[in-house]
Amino acid sequence: MRRRGPDFRRPVRRRFSNVFWLTLFGLLILLLIIMLSRDSHEPTSRSPLNKRPFRHDRSVEGLNITEEMLSADSVARQLNDQISLAKAFVVIAKESNNLQFAWELSAQIRNSQVLLSNAALRRTPLTVGESEASIRDMALLLYQAQQLLHYDSSTMIMRLKGKIQGLEEQMNSINEKSSKFGQIAAEEVPKSLYCLGVRLTTEWFKNSNLQKKLNSESNTAAKLVDNNLYHFCVFSDNVLATSVVVNSTALNSKNPDMVVFHLVTDEVNYAAMKAWFSMNSFRGVIVDVQKFEDFSWLNASYVPVLKQLQDSETQSYYFSGSGGDNRTPIKFRNPKYLSMLNHLRFYIPEVFPALKKLVFLDDDVVVQKDLSPLFAIDLNGNVNGAVETCMETFHRYHKYLNYSHPLIRTHFDPDACGWAFGMNIFDLVQWRKRNVTGIYHYWQEKNVDRTLWKLGTLPPGLLTFYGLTEALDPSWHVLGLGYTNVDAQLIEKGAVLHYNGNSKPWLKIGMEKYKPLWEKYVDYGHPLLQQCNFH
Ligand SMILES: *[C@@H]1O[C@H](CO)[C@@H](O)[C@H](O)[C@H]1NC(C)=O
Ligand SMILES: *[C@@H]1O[C@H](CO)[C@@H](O)[C@H](O)[C@H]1NC(C)=O
Ligand SMILES: *[C@@H]1O[C@H](CO)[C@@H](O)[C@H](O)[C@H]1NC(C)=O
Ligand SMILES: *[C@@H]1O[C@H](CO)[C@@H](O)[C@H](O)[C@H]1NC(C)=O
Ligand SMILES: *[C@@H]1O[C@H](CO)[C@@H](O)[C@H](O)[C@H]1NC(C)=O
Repeated sequence: MRRRGPDFRRPVRRRFSNVFWLTLFGLLILLLIIMLSRDSHEPTSRSPLNKRPFRHDRSVEGLNITEEMLSADSVARQLNDQISLAKAFVVIAKESNNLQFAWELSAQIRNSQVLLSNAALRRTPLTVGESEASIRDMALLLYQAQQLLHYDSSTMIMRLKGKIQGLEEQMNSINEKSSKFGQIAAEEVPKSLYCLGVRLTTEWFKNSNLQKKLNSESNTAAKLVDNNLYHFCVFSDNVLATSVVVNSTALNSKNPDMVVFHLVTDEVNYAAMKAWFSMNSFRGVIVDVQKFEDFSWLNASYVPVLKQLQDSETQSYYFSGSGGDNRTPIKFRNPKYLSMLNHLRFYIPEVFPALKKLVFLDDDVVVQKDLSPLFAIDLNGNVNGAVETCMETFHRYHKYLNYSHPLIRTHFDPDACGWAFGMNIFDLVQWRKRNVTGIYHYWQEKNVDRTLWKLGTLPPGLLTFYGLTEALDPSWHVLGLGYTNVDAQLIEKGAVLHYNGNSKPWLKIGMEKYKPLWEKYVDYGHPLLQQCNFH
């Protein structure tokens, strides 16, 4: 909250010192010239000139980029200025080892560049309306940049001068790698989270009372398979995040004694997970912990993802780009861990053979309402109840899949609505009947050369559950708290808030304004959290 008080939209620029600004302005002009000289090689800039680029003038036949850039009130120019400044900050952020911020800036730079190039392609000037959001988001980032990267302006200018020639080359390589950087930064386990895992594991093996306590209730085993109860699953290696999911579900549940949580984690986090959920209670909610290494059916002869990972070409695909530096977390280097907890969502009936209905929650959500009505929703014979994401055209099928591929073209409507993973109600009876796991295997095997889609679980999810998905009311699952601004009313009404995106609430790069909604469910007074310096 500190960084983003109500005044954060005040003009960014006023805060820079005059000297700094003058120098920077010089540098910007320099950059501009570099850019202009590049732009002038493009055919679009050769078209006849237009005197007033800023009118919404439909008689515009072409655009004189030079003139557009020199015009005082040009939006394109404003965008370009911001881009140049942002590029400088990318360099500084990288030098201060703040890769995640560098990534955020690069992502925003790309957004602005897309706007500019679209305008260039269609040969009409950018309008204020279409670029306003980009300009504002970038202004916000630039404002954060000066707060985050504690530079002394004179040294920064020296460094900038030194760097300015290499800037363009660096940007190219950053653009290529930026998605990877973002992923690495987001995947990197913060020290305190790592500490918590270690302490909990120690506690588990030291304290036999704890081991006895977990599920000591006599009828727990029966409840785990009782289809009259509300079953939830979370697949995660993050104890704290999982705790927030369980705690927030329990606190907002009308009947917590009817809630059963099935957690699946990996070998490394198994003891810690068990320790945490036996030393804390959550209003009588039953919590069961498993590790996926115990699932004997999860083997390379059954699971295409595992089979494909044995292939060396696939391995190098997953490994490459990790840069060989030791900052890359182990998880990222091990493709099995990279993907298995993620891919487990396609094997829910196998993981829970006795269950008929279950709500799947990602570990980066927080629950704000009683979720039991979900179990009463009629899915109309569908397998997956999910919130659709088609309000924006870019969340339709064509965004995620390769429509040059004949298999995709002939099977899927490119304009079909995408939907979100993270809060799904699954009808496991229908799942088994419709052989959904088989459908998933079919597509996963067709994608052995990764021509249908690249990475992630959403694209195969879209293929697997195509025509088997029932749209839920959007208030069940509010998305975007990890990367964008979300309407306050949607947040207020939302049953499940999802911090999808890289700015997870447990990371430093988490969005400050959305952290309290999540932190509310963290017990910062807990001795182990205190020992590990949370907050
Ligand atoms: C673009 O405008 C500038 C300044 O008005 C002018 O000098 C230049 O010749 C124009 N370029 C083209 C390609 O028309
Ligand atoms: C692999 O999984 C299949 C299908 O679940 C199972 O039948 C088989 O026994 C498993 N193989 C091993 C080696 O565990
Ligand atoms: C399910 O699909 C798989 C792969 O498409 C197929 O091999 C299997 O026979 C199917 N099972 C049933 C019960 O239809
Ligand atoms: C998309 O599919 C086509 C046809 O199979 C293939 O040639 C192309 O390389 C694919 N594109 C990507 C980005 O994989
Ligand atoms: C769960 O959330 C409540 C409410 O904010 C909090 O007081 C409590 O300490 C949390 N419990 C755990 C185990 O995190």
